[in-house]
Amino acid sequence: MSAYAETYRRSIADPEAFWAEQAATLRWSKKWQRVLDAGSSPSRPTWHWFAGGELNTCDNALDRWIDEGRGEQAALIYDSPLTGTQTTFSYRQLRDRVARFAGALRANGVDTGDRVVIYMPMVPEAAIAMLACARIGAVHSVVFGGFAAPELAKRIDAAEPVLIVSASCGIEPGRIVEYKPLLDQAIELATHKVRRTIILQRPQSLAAMTAGRDVDWQDAVAAAQPAACVPVAATDPLYVLYTSGTTGKPKGVVRDNGGHAVAMRYSMGAVYDCGTGDVFWAASDVGWVVGHSYIVYGPLLAGCTTILYEGKPVGTPDAGAFWRVISQHKVKSFFTAPTAFRAIKKEDPRGELLKQYDLSQFRTLYLAGERCDPDTIDWAAAQLQRPVIDNWWQTELGWPAIANPRGIEALPVKAGSASVPVPGFDVQVLDADGQVAAKGEIGNVAIKLPLPPGTLTTMWNNEQGYIDNYLTRYPGYYLAGDAGYVDDDGYFWVMSRIDDIINVAGHRLSTGAMEEVLASHPDVAECAVIGAADALKGQVPIGLVVLKTGVGKSHEQIAGELVARMREQIGAVAALKQIAVVARLPKTRSGKVLRATMRAIADGKDYAMPATIDDPQVLVEIGAALRTKR
Ligand code: COA
Ligand code: AMP
Repeated sequence: MSAYAETYRRSIADPEAFWAEQAATLRWSKKWQRVLDAGSSPSRPTWHWFAGGELNTCDNALDRWIDEGRGEQAALIYDSPLTGTQTTFSYRQLRDRVARFAGALRANGVDTGDRVVIYMPMVPEAAIAMLACARIGAVHSVVFGGFAAPELAKRIDAAEPVLIVSASCGIEPGRIVEYKPLLDQAIELATHKVRRTIILQRPQSLAAMTAGRDVDWQDAVAAAQPAACVPVAATDPLYVLYTSGTTGKPKGVVRDNGGHAVAMRYSMGAVYDCGTGDVFWAASDVGWVVGHSYIVYGPLLAGCTTILYEGKPVGTPDAGAFWRVISQHKVKSFFTAPTAFRAIKKEDPRGELLKQYDLSQFRTLYLAGERCDPDTIDWAAAQLQRPVIDNWWQTELGWPAIANPRGIEALPVKAGSASVPVPGFDVQVLDADGQVAAKGEIGNVAIKLPLPPGTLTTMWNNEQGYIDNYLTRYPGYYLAGDAGYVDDDGYFWVMSRIDDIINVAGHRLSTGAMEEVLASHPDVAECAVIGAADALKGQVPIGLVVLKTGVGKSHEQIAGELVARMREQIGAVAALKQIAVVARLPKTRSGKVLRATMRAIADGKDYAMPATIDDPQVLVEIGAALRTKR
């Protein structure tokens, strides 16, 4: 039996023994009583890993490495072409900064179990704030900086933080994003009242401070005593991360301390083939799960050097930026979204810039976050002459569930397939009746319960939502929300979502949330948002709107207002640039909008006329309107 097959078999046959072995690589202040505490009630089919155990995630990410002689090793390299800055923090320096900021959180009223919202650009202080929360057992909830004030307000109301950590500004190519006015507006909009913020003033733009509420980061730190690590229960929450659902209400994914630390450490070796002393880089953002798992926690829990990159794949300054970072910092494993590679390929199709850099330390490229088209994989592999590894997972799962586990065994790569289930994940493709689908047959991706450590433990303040959304469709399974199939070799091909979530440049967005924004415009009677295929971003949203009768404005003016409204309500990241004003939307006779059919029309695909369509002529009109947008 191959190394992968044997490891996988053990993980499924005896998960308790398998995960106890992995957990032993961490530093516990109290050993667990039970590795797996499985829920017994059918109405609450949930489970806990390492019940009775106590540890501190920050202790395992920082202090333990100093105690083990790695204090002077680089822990985090901040590389910011957008500001022309590079700073390296050793494990000792990072621990000292984190301890001091943890003391500042304490002095400003944050206690163990309290929530702290972090709304930050890609600066080291974002990671410091996260680790400082972990150090004192506070629960962080990071909100991506590209979200606008109303989205931030929603997350403040959901997480009910005692304090918010933010910065004066973020920097996007060619413009400064003023965070502080967005934060002020969000605090104003939120029902939950926040009485304290800590603001990092960046030299690119200083923010106006509200006396009595806002504290300057530097002042807070100068006044603080370093805080020690607080042991917490393995089952206590480490963070809540909100992700898009099918409605405008984001889902608060809860991650625990114990299972998460075990899974992070395990995945760094098994999937990303990195261990102590290796340099690992995930070019993502701390506001997404990739940033949580593989910019901050994973690499540090594995004793690696991590890179926090404030820049883009192209334009900062050119399409060679990634090669420069990989070469300069001697990156061994690199992780990004396929979109980034499509952007590089567009600007430098023959890889001329790549030839300028010495990539001799570089081993493997990992791509995830969206379906990766085989063309991009083949192009990247040909340019880099390195394996390109697709891996499938989601915010909810926290780490790869389907991958080519290079740290265990390098399996053959099939471009377009994320490969095989990772040890711990019993992934299946189920048909509509809940039976395992035949090989090659498309069905719903589902994972047999219990999920392994590191996956979501519940939804914040919404246990029932967790059960209804994920555990009810197929009793005994977690429903991923993706469709795919398994081939004859047991490789998984995950093709698309089964719901109204779209993936724009690796960013997960809800068309339902976007429809709520369009519908709130006073001139809009009805609307639909669909995700249409895009050569660069994978998908882009297109809004279709029906106006109320008697609206005298031009279609251009309406479209401009709707695009601006989307930026103000959800944020620039929604990337809605195309609006088609139409006379009617295609519907079934019972009034359901035919989004999938419109998507097929937008993508120029063949589609079957839905048997229940109310008026087929509407599809002709929609086709004509969409053609002007494509
Ligand atoms: N703060 C504020 N605004 C942000 C932001 C942030 N953190 N991140 C993105 N935005 C803005 C962008 O400036 C852009 O604004 P614009 O409409 O005024 O130009 C908008 O949101 C859309 O951003 P994006 O979808 O990222 O497109 P882009 O055209 O700026 O860049 C790529 C295209 C491919 C270079 C870029 O999407 C990229 O680097 N993708 C990598 C994907 C990735 O890291 N995904 C994370 C999951 S692994
Ligand atoms: P997120 O929660 O933002 O990580 O988005 C998760 C979703 O992105 C998944 O449910 C998939 O729809 C999609 N996705 C992520 N990685 C892949 C991949 N490797 N292949 C196909 N789809 C992916």
